Amino acid sequence: MRLTVIGTGYLGATHAACMAELGHEVLGVDVDPDKVAALQAGRVPFHEPGLPELIAKHTASGRLRFTTDYAAAGAFADVHFVCVGTPQRQDSEGADLTYVDAAFAAIAGHAAEGALLVGKSTVPVGTAGRLADTFGAEVAWNPEFLREGFAVEDTLRPDRLVFGVRSSRAETILRQVYAPVLDAGTPLVTADFPTAELVKTAANAFLATKISFINAMAEICEAAGGDVGVLAEAIGHDDRIGRKFLRAGVGFGGGCLPKDIRAFAHRADELGVSLAFLREVDAINMRRRDKVVELARELCGGSVLGARIAVLGAAFKPGSDDIRDSPALNVAARLRLDGADVTVYDPEALDNARKAFPLLGYAMSAEEALRGAGLVLHLTEWPQFREIDPERAARLVSRPYLVDGRGVLDADRWTAAGWHFRALGRPAPVGERSLQGL
Ligand code: UDX
Repeated sequence: MRLTVIGTGYLGATHAACMAELGHEVLGVDVDPDKVAALQAGRVPFHEPGLPELIAKHTASGRLRFTTDYAAAGAFADVHFVCVGTPQRQDSEGADLTYVDAAFAAIAGHAAEGALLVGKSTVPVGTAGRLADTFGAEVAWNPEFLREGFAVEDTLRPDRLVFGVRSSRAETILRQVYAPVLDAGTPLVTADFPTAELVKTAANAFLATKISFINAMAEICEAAGGDVGVLAEAIGHDDRIGRKFLRAGVGFGGGCLPKDIRAFAHRADELGVSLAFLREVDAINMRRRDKVVELARELCGGSVLGARIAVLGAAFKPGSDDIRDSPALNVAARLRLDGADVTVYDPEALDNARKAFPLLGYAMSAEEALRGAGLVLHLTEWPQFREIDPERAARLVSRPYLVDGRGVLDADRWTAAGWHFRALGRPAPVGERSLQGL
């Protein structure tokens, strides 16, 4: 089939490449000529495993092309996927639909009679119906659930497909598009527009709630002297709870979960329904960042002014160079504002971090960041940070003080090497009780 994919950011570039991989002829459309030129030359402007290879493969084969020309897009295909962003609005918690509205307007103006416009963006419930009514076009909503770092895998082999449709014709077309994925046994849920839109926001709200639940338990553990790591393992053995997404730490960030739960609560208010608990989910998440800042202050003797602090991690999670709403950089920037001399190291996200936070110091390796530091904060759990040798690291720093903000470092090993080791939601090692209550 011939398809267009409108918006070639994170979601759109991945979707376009994966649709080509499924055997379709795909035209990616974006208003940014630099992005289009880069992608057409096979270059991906962000870190995503497997995606550069797929884009290079299909731009070379000719099955995947990119353009800024909406008229060409309208003439090219009868199925158009809209994959533009829905960031948080400046003036409220709600989603900014400017790009979605503009993309639908632009393609509706050029699409052939009977073309199907398929929204993939995460939108407030009610958007699909409004767009269908506004443009009098055939619309479908097909939310995505891809995780950064696994975007290609999640698109080619998703847990499920969701088709929000108003007609059997739209469903038939989407079944054709995804035929290889459906043939592989992927479950399909067909729904009306509101349900399809809500599936996405509900899934993200549930995931965020799970993380904030365990982080609230971490707060209780800190107050009562318990260990949230052991607690999570024990409750996770119950299949009804499950072990995934119960990693306590400095909390969630990224381009999706934080803004999606805010937009969801905001939309619910508009509909006269309270999702106030999602505001608490957000608040718990933010309090974990406060906790790390507080711990840093205490471990530096009451003030971080002039303290040399090494921050390991800048990306919002490992396997990504995305720094949007990154807990690590939020903590680093706040310590810098309080007068600390902060040096950040991240294996992938340094360029992005440097552009967004030019006042922070940056190192080209973990070793360089650690050299001379009086406090080390481990805030993004890249696997290579687990490989750091605590004894060697102790010789680099000026004071062996470490906060594990992700709960994955081996406390016994670090303590045995002479480190004062703290992890969120876990008791201080025996012998260091005087430092507890932090
Ligand atoms: C998320 C959803 O998983 C995905 O389905 C949706 O389409 C987009 O949002 P992503 O933002 O890529 O994907 O990241 P994810 O791997 O879900 O992690 C989100 C955040 O939660 C990260 O900051 C991560 O560090 C944090 N997290 C995750 C925890 O703090 N604890 C956990 O147990 C799991």
